This record gives sequence, structure tokens and C-alpha cells, in this order.
Amino acid sequence: MFREFDISQIDISGQVPEEEVLRQRYFMAKCRELIQKKKEALGRDLYIHILTVGCQMNAKDSEKLLGIAREIGYVETDKEDQADLVIYNTCTVRENANQKVYGRLGYLNSLKKHNPELLIGLCGCMVQEPSVVETIQKSYRFVDMVFGTHNIFRLAEILHRRLSGEKTVIDVWKDTDKIVEDLPAERKYSFKSGVNIMFGCNNFCSYCIVPYVRGRERSRNHQDILQEIRELAADGVIEVMLLGQNVNSYGKKYGAYDTKVQEDTDMTFAKLLQEVEKVEGIERIRFMTSHPKDLSDELIHVMKESKKICRHLHLPLQSGSTEILRRMNRHYTKEQYLTLAEKIRREIPDISLTTDIIVGFPGETEEDFRETLDVVRKVQFDSAFTFIYSKRTGTPAATMDNQVPEDVVHDRFDRLLAEVQQIASKMSGRDVGTTQTVLVEGVDEKTEGYLTGRLSNNVMVHFKGEPSLIGTLVPVYLEESRGFYYLGTLQ
Ligand code: SAH
Ligand code: SF4
Ligand code: F3S
Repeated sequence: MFREFDISQIDISGQVPEEEVLRQRYFMAKCRELIQKKKEALGRDLYIHILTVGCQMNAKDSEKLLGIAREIGYVETDKEDQADLVIYNTCTVRENANQKVYGRLGYLNSLKKHNPELLIGLCGCMVQEPSVVETIQKSYRFVDMVFGTHNIFRLAEILHRRLSGEKTVIDVWKDTDKIVEDLPAERKYSFKSGVNIMFGCNNFCSYCIVPYVRGRERSRNHQDILQEIRELAADGVIEVMLLGQNVNSYGKKYGAYDTKVQEDTDMTFAKLLQEVEKVEGIERIRFMTSHPKDLSDELIHVMKESKKICRHLHLPLQSGSTEILRRMNRHYTKEQYLTLAEKIRREIPDISLTTDIIVGFPGETEEDFRETLDVVRKVQFDSAFTFIYSKRTGTPAATMDNQVPEDVVHDRFDRLLAEVQQIASKMSGRDVGTTQTVLVEGVDEKTEGYLTGRLSNNVMVHFKGEPSLIGTLVPVYLEESRGFYYLGTLQ
């Protein structure tokens, strides 16, 4: 939530304020002064480019970083080689992501030769791993700022330290229970926005690094969430995506605030959705991600009755084998997942069910893998993200016996992908011949004169239309299915 403040009114002559929000506004004003001087000396604007990888959480964090940078006086550019500040917001959920980052850092260093003003910031989940910080300190000393997931709101303070002469500023917190509100954020789209409803994760699935790099689960006050959504609606947003690693456990643990005390409340995720539904101007509500173990009947009921909650549920399966699920620490069995999926499809027949699946978890046998294929066939997922298990140091699965040989994993992965794709292409055509509401998201880059938009069930539609329709809901007749998108005609 961001209440307008006038940065030029901030007194930067006195002491640094203690309270976090005031403190960060103070540093924004301080940086703004330094950046202004730089701009005058160079006789040009200063540019920022943010590189974002990973999930919706990172995308949202990058909007916050951009909001702060804009307040300081940077102008956004989509060209890395034009930027004076590049921030790399990283993901570490699978190992190959880390290698890419190191390669990219080398390239960024080469840009410094052409632009001595260039500052490089590295942040996000990868930075929360101590070994990564050590590597940066040892071999990538040209990186100017390194900060983690818990203190992105401190960008101005960290940048101020760098601009004041400190060499590599490293500020990574191990964990936090803090939630800082009321700082700026710059939205990527004018008509849709992600809204954090909780941070961190307490599930400790045995393969997953997220709880270690994002910290303990903490929900935001529902009043703050609703206030933010009202402000977004007033600003023209019609679709919100509620964000959390496990939205179904919303309200179980709250965060610590600087300026207020968390009140006792019996707010559940389903109740929160009902409150969001009441916000005038909001037409579509999405959320990400649901853990099957906590998905309540109350939620299914609320979705079923809702006019605004989108007909899409992302329900990560991970594996179809009860034994593997037990070792993954997922807290549900194959049968429980199947029963849940069946119940959802029965109650909300037009829903699109999507999932995540990991192949090659330690100890996975051919029999276990077939259980996964069996679930895929039974549930008929509208689409599925399939991943090869990646060993993350520090997680319990990394030291488990019986890591599956690479060739076996690849063979299973290919078989799973073929199955998933075949089912997905069949499922995606099921609305051909009907007229559906589409939120127009942009111009279709591939076909001149065409727009692209999304159905309630998250499937893309391409159709002819004027760019003035972007950001509006329009009826489109779905003429033809092209695998994972439709071709349609505006009605
Ligand atoms: N909180 C979300 C998932 C976030 S990570 C949830 O539980 O649904 C997104 C996906 O990455 C996971 O669903 C999982 O399928 C995959 N993933 C996580 N750790 C992984 C690992 N070590 N190897 C391979 N895939 C992994
Ligand atoms: Fe990772 Fe599991 Fe948490 Fe999802 S619920 S972020 S997979 S630990
Ligand atoms: Fe990646 Fe961090 Fe998201 S590890 S998946 S960016 S929470």
C-alpha cells in the first residue's frame, strides 16, 4: 500500500528517522539529491533496468524496486546497455538458474567499461544463500550492491551507502518477521496487478529452497490488503492476483509491523476472497499458489458462488506416488489429491486445473513414476509445468539416498511431457464455438492488427481489434483452438 508523499518536503538535514517507512523516505530524498547532481554533471537522465527471473513474488518485488528508483529520479529503460543502474532480481528454485546469473554478471561487467556510471545490484532469492554471497565477494567484486529478499524495501538506503563511497555494499538478512507497508511501487500493467497477501513459506517441502530464502510465513493484515486493492481499483485496475506461496494458509501467522499491532481475527483465505469480491471496480480475482493440503471446502464454495474469482486453480501435484509425496513432506496422498481434484471439477465444471510436477525425486521408482502418469490421466490437467528434480544444497532431499540416474530421469520427463501435452491440447479446445469474456492485455506481437487477451480460465485468445481496447473486458467468439491459445472474433 502506498500513500502519496511529497519527496521534496522531506527534511534531509536532520537525523535519520528510526521508523522504517520514514527512514526509507529519508534515504530516497537523500539519493534523489545525489542523483540530481549526477544528472546535472552529465547533462542527461540516469536510467534503471531491472532484470527479473523467477515467480510472481519476484515480479512484484521488482515493481517495488522500480517504484523506489523512480522516486529517486531514475528513468526506466528496457535496454540493459543504456542503464546506469541494473538490478538483477534472481531465483534459485532450481540450480541451473544460478549458473545463468554468473554468466550474465560477467556481461554486465563488460558494460561498465563503456559506462563508468553503471552500478550493478544483485538481489532476490539466490542472494539469500551464503555460498552465493561468498562467491560474489571473491570473484565478482564489480557488483556494487548485494541485498536479499527480506530488505528490498531498503533499496534507497543501500544505494545511498554506495553513492556515498562504500565499495561493495552487502546487506542480506537471514530472516525477518517484518512487513513494511506504505512504500512506492511501479505497476507494470495499468489494468492488472499482483497483491502480496503473505510472504515466506512454512511448509518445508523436502526438495524446496523457498522457505530458506523467503523466510517464515507471515500474512499481511486484511485491512491493508483490502485498502491496497481499493486504491488499485480507484487507479483503474480491474484484475488482481493475490500472491503467496501457499495462499490457503492465509491468516494463520501474521507479520510484525513497525507502526501497528496485529489485531486478532478469524480471517481465512476464503473470507478474504469474499471481501475482495466486494471491492467495486475489481472485475477479476486470481490467486497463486494453492497447496492441496490446505484447500478447504469453504474455498471451493466461495469460488463456485463468485462472479469475479477466475475459473482457474493452480494446484501443484509434484508427484502421484503416495510414498514420494510422504518423502517430499507434502502432507497428502495420491487418493486425497484425486478426491480433491474430482470435487473441484464436480463443483465448478468450467474450471481450468493446472499443476506443477517434479520428475526424478530421490528414490523415485518406475512404479512411482507410473502413479504420477496415472494421476495426470485421471485429473486431465488443462496444463502442467514439469520439472526435472534439482538438488538444492541445504534441503533434506539433497542428502537422500538413491538419487535417480540422469538418463532415467530424462526418459521419464519426456514420457510425462508427451502425456501432459496431449491432454492439454485436448482440454484447451473445449470452449471452441462459445463466446467468452476476454481481458485484453496487449497487442499481438506476431500478427499485425491483432490483440491478445486472457479468458477467465487463464487461456490466451488472439483476435483482431484496436489497441484502445487494452485493459478492457470484451466478448470474443472462440473460433479455433491452436493448442494452448484460441483464435477468436470480437463480438
Ligand atoms: N509454493 C508453490 C511452489 C513454488 S516453487 C507451491 O508449493 O505450489 C514452483 C515449483 O517449482 C514447485 O511447485 C515445484 O514443482 C518446483 N520446484 C521447487 N523446488 C524444486 C526442485 N528442487 N527441483 C525441481 N523443481 C522444483
Ligand atoms: Fe516450496 Fe513447498 Fe513452500 Fe511451495 S509449499 S514454496 S514447494 S516449500
Ligand atoms: Fe524463485 Fe524465489 Fe520465487 S526461488 S520461484 S523467485 S520465491
